[in-house]
Amino acid sequence: MKRLLATAAALAVAAVLAGPAFAQEVVIKFSHVVAPNTPKGKGADKFKELAEKYTAGKVKVEVYPNSQLYKDKEELEALQLGAVQMLAPSLAKFGPLGVKEFEIFDLPFIFPSKQALVKVTSGAIGKALFKKLEDKGIVGLAYWDNGFKIMSANKPLKSPDDFLGLKMRIQSSKVLEAQMKALGALPQVMAFSEVYQGLQTGVVDGTENPPSNMYTQKMHEVQKHATLSNHGYLGYAVIVNKKFWDGLPADVRGQLDKAMAEATAFANDIAQKENDDALAAMKATGKTEFYSLTDAEKGAWMKALKPVHDEMAGRVGKDLLAEIYRETGVAK
Ligand code: LMR
Repeated sequence: MKRLLATAAALAVAAVLAGPAFAQEVVIKFSHVVAPNTPKGKGADKFKELAEKYTAGKVKVEVYPNSQLYKDKEELEALQLGAVQMLAPSLAKFGPLGVKEFEIFDLPFIFPSKQALVKVTSGAIGKALFKKLEDKGIVGLAYWDNGFKIMSANKPLKSPDDFLGLKMRIQSSKVLEAQMKALGALPQVMAFSEVYQGLQTGVVDGTENPPSNMYTQKMHEVQKHATLSNHGYLGYAVIVNKKFWDGLPADVRGQLDKAMAEATAFANDIAQKENDDALAAMKATGKTEFYSLTDAEKGAWMKALKPVHDEMAGRVGKDLLAEIYRETGVAK
């Protein structure tokens, strides 16, 4: 009898050591600063669903939306330290990391359409930009779309002169700083999670964002006017901690790549509708008056903002800028 029990115990230990239960579960903390019902929020949740499915539960993804875990600046530091494994920061937020070339996406009127933008992010330029992240200990996995930005304040914004002296919240981008200065406004970098309160208390007078961000942060409650300018683009780079990513078993990394590719297609497919629905929802509240520029007014905005390209070419890279002009067909 004793021999029988000893054999059974040995078999049980062997099963545990060999079985999946013994393999350490991999946890990916995916932190971001927007609401779940946004293009990025839904993209992150889709990645969680697919990553856990394709790895058969070997990987668990914990999504922390709305700056729950980290705010703008802290999240990049946390990623580099390995305190979180995945982020999807706005392309406007890589300057403080020392990768200022990403701010090329912030140049006003640089993309005539989403199609032109996709030619840049899905091609050699997008890959070359991701390469620049590697010596910061970061791997770029995908580009996720949000949309073109609108401007908001508590006064009508029809001509560039309407911005004179306004304190305008921006993301941490020198190009966006130059953009607001070109309009005569006073740019103020502020974490996304603090924008509603900044507008409510008057610390800042106005801001810019795609409608999906304006709506889900309830900015329409504290902004009486918005102009559907589409003057600039806001999108994301989905990034992971390089040490973590390279340390994954090749089969698991392949399963996560598949999940990311499908989540990327999903997030990019829904982005425009999320913004259209957010704009319609804000209009329905009647709290903000939305204005569309006349052709002449848009021409005046472009005239005021186009010099930012030359002013910031040295920062984002003259050759990179020339390459984007060629790729998008935008006349300099
Ligand atoms: C902002 O800070 O305005 C945006 O980058 C927030 C986001 O992640 O969309």
